[in-house]
Amino acid sequence: MAATRELSHVYPLGSRVNEAGRLEVGGCDALELAREHGTPAYVVAEDDLRARARAFQQALAARHDDFEVLFASKAFPCTAAYRLFAAEGLSCDVASGGELHMALAGGFEPARIYLHGNAKSEAELRQALEAGVGHVVIDNFDDVDRLERLVGPGNSQRVLVRVTPGIKPSTHDFVSTGHIDSKFGLELDDARAAIDRLRSSDRLELRGIHIHIGSQIFELGSFRRAIEAIAGLGEFPVYDLGGGLGVAYTAEDEPPSIEAYIEAKVAAAHEALGRERRLLIEPGRALVANAGVTLYTIETVKRGLSTYVGVDGGMSDNLRPMLYGSVYEAAIADRLDPGGELCQVAGKHCESGDVVVHDVHLHEPRPGDVLVTPATGAYGHAMANNYNGVPRPPVVFCRDGDARVVVRRETYDDLLSRDAG
Ligand code: LLP
Repeated sequence: MAATRELSHVYPLGSRVNEAGRLEVGGCDALELAREHGTPAYVVAEDDLRARARAFQQALAARHDDFEVLFASKAFPCTAAYRLFAAEGLSCDVASGGELHMALAGGFEPARIYLHGNAKSEAELRQALEAGVGHVVIDNFDDVDRLERLVGPGNSQRVLVRVTPGIKPSTHDFVSTGHIDSKFGLELDDARAAIDRLRSSDRLELRGIHIHIGSQIFELGSFRRAIEAIAGLGEFPVYDLGGGLGVAYTAEDEPPSIEAYIEAKVAAAHEALGRERRLLIEPGRALVANAGVTLYTIETVKRGLSTYVGVDGGMSDNLRPMLYGSVYEAAIADRLDPGGELCQVAGKHCESGDVVVHDVHLHEPRPGDVLVTPATGAYGHAMANNYNGVPRPPVVFCRDGDARVVVRRETYDDLLSRDAG
């Protein structure tokens, strides 16, 4: 096994195959991580998170004076990630009272928090007002009614209006949000009505427009079209242009760079919306996906028509293959060279669809081997669950050879901890 082999761009920045021929993430040897912290485990390279946060900020700073980069925290809602991105100077988008609670615990200044949600409860709105969040993003007319009532006379709350621009990007339907008849936001005519209403409100201060057309998008033209679609709504000081930049899940995937993505959005905004605006973007996946890998242990190798490599996790730690048919890579953490036997990496859950990676080549997989799936930093921990009573994995941050657990593994007692009778 070549000790110096380069890993593809799917792996966290700074990852390598070390002298022992093993995967190293954040300077930490994957087999040692597995021994010390157990498997499955989410392993995250802290420097990768920081580098991408800086890349977004630098790409914007090079093109536009007045901007904010918001961490779309649904992609990786853990206190340590909130803390890291707050320290990097990012703002934060939260999609629920729970994410708001975590963002505050992670140290985000309330003024830098934006509350989203297509079905916000009164309790969530009250929580946001009490916390003093900077902006609430209006998604529907009920938001306007409730918020006006809760803000009360003599007070004021800044808001954005989420607009559905009628653009359908090329991505999975489940993560497409800007098309006509979306459950999110207000279509252009309704948005105009909401804008009129907000402009005459003495309690809600309309600052601008928000759009987010979807996620895991490679085609930059759809972002441009969405920005052009909102140009006729009037002039506003703030435009939140959403997230959506796609990432590489396999070595063959070539998503646009952060630089190209920002260039496309900023250029379209300058042309369609004007230059003297505050521009916001909300990256989630592209900030965190490639910073993380999941380590599993192989429990069984069953050879028949197919070779099923059964691991100790699956759809409880990564729902994405089952929900969206998402394609991942896998490798044995100390035999990473391409080639080997054609395998199906099966999860441990009681469903035939629980296959983590289809049709991947692995070198002599054996029970006890550590298997890695890269690019699990986004929407993995976020969507983890306890199906089949499987405890959720820990999150381990790695940096310069030091590993620290930032979310501990769930225990069996945790599974009983909400019992109330
Ligand atoms: N802003 C808003 C309002 C959003 O709804 C989202 C994602 C983002 C920003 C961040 O988008 P990103 O940069 O991550 O594409 N669970 C799915 C993804 C759902 C995305 C939901 N909204 C998955 O695992 O692919």
